[in-house]
Amino acid sequence: MPKFFYITTPIYYVNDKPHIGHAYTSIVCDIMARFMVLDGYQVKFLTGTDEHGQKVEKAACAKGLDPKEFTDQLTQTFQALTPLLGLTNNDFIRTTENRHIQAVQHLWNVIEEKGYIYLGKYSGWYAVREEAFYQEDELINGKAPTGADVEWVTEPSYFFKLSAFQEKLLDFYQKHPNFIAPETRRNEVVRFVERGLKDLSISRTSFKWGIPVPKDPKHVMYVWFDALTNYISALGYPKTDLSKGFWPEALHVVGKDILRFHAVYWPAFLMAANLPLPKRIFAHGWWTNEGEKISKSLNNTIDPLELIEKYGLDAVRYFLVREIPFGQDGDFSKTALVNRVNSDLSNAYGNLVQRVLSFVYKNCSGQIPKRNLLEEDDQKLLNLALNLVKEARIFIKQQALHKLCENIWNVIYAANRYVDVQKPWVLKNENPIRMETVLNVLCNVIRRLAIITQPILPCGSSKILDQLNVKDRSFNVFDQELVPGTVISEPQAIFPRWE
Ligand code: MSP
Repeated sequence: MPKFFYITTPIYYVNDKPHIGHAYTSIVCDIMARFMVLDGYQVKFLTGTDEHGQKVEKAACAKGLDPKEFTDQLTQTFQALTPLLGLTNNDFIRTTENRHIQAVQHLWNVIEEKGYIYLGKYSGWYAVREEAFYQEDELINGKAPTGADVEWVTEPSYFFKLSAFQEKLLDFYQKHPNFIAPETRRNEVVRFVERGLKDLSISRTSFKWGIPVPKDPKHVMYVWFDALTNYISALGYPKTDLSKGFWPEALHVVGKDILRFHAVYWPAFLMAANLPLPKRIFAHGWWTNEGEKISKSLNNTIDPLELIEKYGLDAVRYFLVREIPFGQDGDFSKTALVNRVNSDLSNAYGNLVQRVLSFVYKNCSGQIPKRNLLEEDDQKLLNLALNLVKEARIFIKQQALHKLCENIWNVIYAANRYVDVQKPWVLKNENPIRMETVLNVLCNVIRRLAIITQPILPCGSSKILDQLNVKDRSFNVFDQELVPGTVISEPQAIFPRWE
C-alpha cells in the first residue's frame, strides 16, 4: 500500500516580489516534503500564486498593466524561486488556470445547491491589503487590527452561511485535537469560533478581477473563496475522490496571520460541500528584522535571494529552521545568521567531516578502513546515529523542525567529542588496528548524518555523500554500513566560515 503525504504552502499574492515570508514557508515545506520522499512516501508538494482580487488588480493598475499581463509577469518570479530555494514542489498552481477556475465554480455550485449561499447586501469595512472584511467594533483608530487601511464597502453580495457551521466546527476541533497547531493558536481559533460566526460576504461587484460567480457573472468571487480552493483544484477536484490518496493526508502550512481563513472558513466551505477536511493546519510565526516589524514603508524587507547569493542556500535554509522554534515569532539579523552558520555548520558539522575524511584520505590510502573490535564508546556513538531517523519521524510529525535539527546536532557534537577523546592521530602510531575501527565508526556516523541532513542541507549533504561514494541515499538503507575498502574522494571544505 503506498503511503501518501500532501503538503502545501499558501499561494502567494503576486502584487509584489518574493520576501522572507515566502521563502520561509516554502523552505520549511520543502524540508518536510524531502524528508517524506526519503522515507518512502508518495509526496505531493504544492505551491503557487494567488492572482485574483482587488489587491492584485490595484497593483496592476498602478503599473499601467492589464491584470492578466501583470500576473503573467509576476508569477514567473515566484516560479523562479523553485530552483533558487532548492524547492522540490511537484506542482505549481496559478489561480488563473482553467483547472482551478473550473474547480472553484464547481465548488460554488455545490455549496449553493446545498443551500449555504444566498444573495444579500454587504455594508462594512474592507482591508484590501489583507483582502479581509472587518466589523465596526473590530477597528482600532479607524484601521484594521493589523494596521491595514480599510474602506467602506456597500454593494450587493452573495453570502456564505458561515453562522450555520459554528457548532460543527467546534465539534470537529474537539474530535480532532491535532487539526490546528501549535496549541496556543488552536485555542485562539476555538475562542474566535465560540464568540459566534457571522455569515461571510463571498462576492464583490465593485471590481472585475476575479472568478465570475457561475449564474451571476456581474459578481466576482471573494478572493479567499477562490484561493483556498487551490488545495483541491490541484488534486483534480471535482474529478478526484478526495476521501483517499493525498487529500486525507494534507498538511497546510501557513503564517499565523492567515490561520483564521484556513482553520475556520476553509473547513466550513468543505463541510458545506460535504467534502472531507485536510488533516492538519500548522501556523508558523513571523520574522522581524533586527527587532523591527518588516514592512515596505520601513524599507526593511529582507530579500531571500540576496541572502542566498551571499551565504549560500544551505546556510539560509538551516538558519531559518534552526534559529526559532517552528510556530513562534523570531528575529532575523545578519549577526545571528553568521553566528549560527559558523558555529553549527562550519565549526561543528563541516569540521567533523573535514577532519575525519582528510585523515582517512591521507592515512588509509583513501579507503574506508576496516572495523575491528568495537568498544563501548564506539557502539554508543553508532547507536546515537542509528536512532536519528526514528527520532526524526516524531519531530516531522509535529513539525518540530528546530528539535529535528537540535537532535541531529547533538550527534554531531558527540562525534566531535569522540574524535577528541579517541585521538586517531595518536592511534596512528600507537595502535593502528584501533585507529581503523575508530575511523570506520566515524565514517559510518558521517554517512548517516549526511543522509538525515539531506532535507535541510541538500547541497552540503550531497557533497559529503559524494565524497564517501554513497549511491543509495534513502532512509530504507539508513541502517546499512559502508563497505570497508570503498574508495573515497579527496575531501573539500563543505561549509565556509563567515566573518
Ligand atoms: N494569498 C494569501 C494566501 C492564500 S492561501 C490559500 C497570502 N499571500 S501572501 O503572499 O501575502 O502571504 C505570504 C505568506 O507569507 C503568509 O503565510 C504570511 O504569513 C507569510 N509572511 C509574510 N510576512 C512574513 C514574515 N515577516 N515572517 C514570516 N512569514 C511572513 O496571504
